[in-house]
Amino acid sequence: MTTNIGRVRKAVLPVAGLGTRVLPGTKTTPKELLNVVDRPILSYIAEEAREAGIEHIVFVTGRSKQAIEDYFDHQIELEAQLAAKGKTEILATMNAELARPGEMSFTRQMQPKGLGHAVWCARDIIGHEPFAVLLPDVIVDSSPGALKQLIDIYSEVGGNIIGVEAVPESETHKYGVVDPAGDREGRRIGMKGMVEKPAQGTAPSNLAISGRYVLQPDIFDLLTDQQAGAGGEIQLTDAMARLMQSQSFTAVEYEGVTHDCGDKIGLLRANVALALKRPDLGEAARAALSALL
Ligand code: G1P
Repeated sequence: MTTNIGRVRKAVLPVAGLGTRVLPGTKTTPKELLNVVDRPILSYIAEEAREAGIEHIVFVTGRSKQAIEDYFDHQIELEAQLAAKGKTEILATMNAELARPGEMSFTRQMQPKGLGHAVWCARDIIGHEPFAVLLPDVIVDSSPGALKQLIDIYSEVGGNIIGVEAVPESETHKYGVVDPAGDREGRRIGMKGMVEKPAQGTAPSNLAISGRYVLQPDIFDLLTDQQAGAGGEIQLTDAMARLMQSQSFTAVEYEGVTHDCGDKIGLLRANVALALKRPDLGEAARAALSALL
């Protein structure tokens, strides 16, 4: 078993998905740019990546996703108008999110061939170094952020790290699920396998792969010839299961609340939960919700 420990500087964000579960809202707006309270889902994900020390974000995009690139660039006319009106606070918030020069790359997945294929599309930009993957449907509300928690453990144990969360048995068929091994050490769980979208009643555990990974670049060689798996798609989980034959994998049940924002109720829940926590909005949000309920 190799236990490579190199610094994790780059992250892949696969943002080519069509957002079919939240149509028609995503007909003209990429699902990653749907608002949660007052900023897009992607803003939370970029913040989590930067907090974890990520210096370069690779977006794997698709057609109709140009607005994602624009979101991290200046909007000169809007900024000039806000400045003229003295709206300095929101201007400062917006400026803090802008891409630093050279911080972001954009490449396209031209056909929807699955998550494994999307990650593989980033191979040349990542090169030969360990990297993170953050699925942009998923906001993890935690401090420190989920990716930072994974990277902290990675810097101790190396290899490959997969963020997991316990889900009800009845939900395991919707996820990749890990097969745990050995004793658990705090939030760290040893692994002996993993399976993508197991048929109901066959999952090896209730620990679902939730959308945060630290991977060694050797995964790209395996993805090159990875055959289609669950749903007829090239699955990252299948390539990781093959990589497990030669490299260590550790599952981490990070601390925090996971919101699946690619789903109607998940998006609603994220809006409510994060509004209630906001110092500037919490009280008003609670009053509005209580009146409704
Ligand atoms: C993907 C991954 C799966 C993971 C899930 C988390 O599936 O393939 O392993 O559990 O994200 O949301 P998808 O939701 O794209 O079908």
